[in-house]
Amino acid sequence: MTSTSTGHRVAVVGAGTMGIGAAHAFALAGMDVLLLDKSTQALDTALRQINTNVRLYGLIDPRLSAGAEVLDRVRVGTDLAEARDSDWLIENVTENHDVKREVLGLLDGVCRPGVPIGANTSAIPIGVLASYTEHPERVIGVHLMNPVPLKNVVEVIPSVHTSAATLTLMRECLGRAGKTTVTVNDSPGFVTNRIAMLMVNEAVHLLAEGVADPASIDRLMRGCLGHQMGPLETADLIGLDTVLYSLEVLSAHRDEDKFAPARLLREYVASGRLGRKSGEGFYSYTS
Ligand SMILES: NC(=O)c1ccc[n+]([C@@H]2O[C@H](COP(=O)([O-])OP(=O)(O)OC[C@H]3O[C@@H](n4cnc5c(N)ncnc54)[C@H](O)[C@@H]3O)[C@@H](O)[C@H]2O)c1
Repeated sequence: MTSTSTGHRVAVVGAGTMGIGAAHAFALAGMDVLLLDKSTQALDTALRQINTNVRLYGLIDPRLSAGAEVLDRVRVGTDLAEARDSDWLIENVTENHDVKREVLGLLDGVCRPGVPIGANTSAIPIGVLASYTEHPERVIGVHLMNPVPLKNVVEVIPSVHTSAATLTLMRECLGRAGKTTVTVNDSPGFVTNRIAMLMVNEAVHLLAEGVADPASIDRLMRGCLGHQMGPLETADLIGLDTVLYSLEVLSAHRDEDKFAPARLLREYVASGRLGRKSGEGFYSYTS
């Protein structure tokens, strides 16, 4: 990536499940993407996965098979200071307060004044994340959906600190990538995950109680309720560690028993069964 034009450069920070999708989606839109992660292994995997996804998503929608140009527009690095020339930042690091605090503080110190920082989180209130920076007005929640290139609606969450300029700039960035935004007020889990995490948790309770196996639970939710994916396959796609942490955040912030994570979910995460990203979750992905 050699372009030095303004208004085209987006730094995607965190190259896991969501960073991979975000980098792919912005590159597809012709933007110059800088994909940053502390782990070179994660970056190598990310480039390989984007390459695979270009082909896979192209089978679903030919407009998504832009081929090699997508990878040409993605540059990778491990030094967050490289984000200094970016016009937009989208943070997608691990769903954990301490990790987010460190990364958001660093990014705030690195990027130019007024550059918006989108925080992609499943449940942490945006006002809390904004407080980890010296410029909370430039932080905004950008709840991307997974897989990002295939999901065109984004939940956008300004906190009480977020400026109108930040909201406008971030909408512009997402609009370039073909995303429609729905703006909601700041609250743990926002709208989508306050509902979705409860459903996933209840599905895990049903599984643990032996009421039905994973395939039956998912099939019923797809076939009877018209969901595109069942709750357990969704959980495997999200990552069970992210689901668990999101439920813990919801439990802590809302002080309600209904968000208490199912014991089986804790056991899976403790044993390294994290879903698709580890090859094993409620389903096996090893073959
Ligand atoms: N997985 C989903 O379906 C989904 C959907 C919407 C939002 N989210 C949110 O997006 C964020 C990322 O989720 P994910 O599923 O991609 O997580 P992930 O665990 O797959 O990836 C996180 C990445 O962050 C990197 N990272 C951790 N600390 C870092 C640091 N200090 N500097 C640079 N990189 C660092 C890790 O190396 C890893 O590659 C989370 O906050 C999550 O809640 C996830």
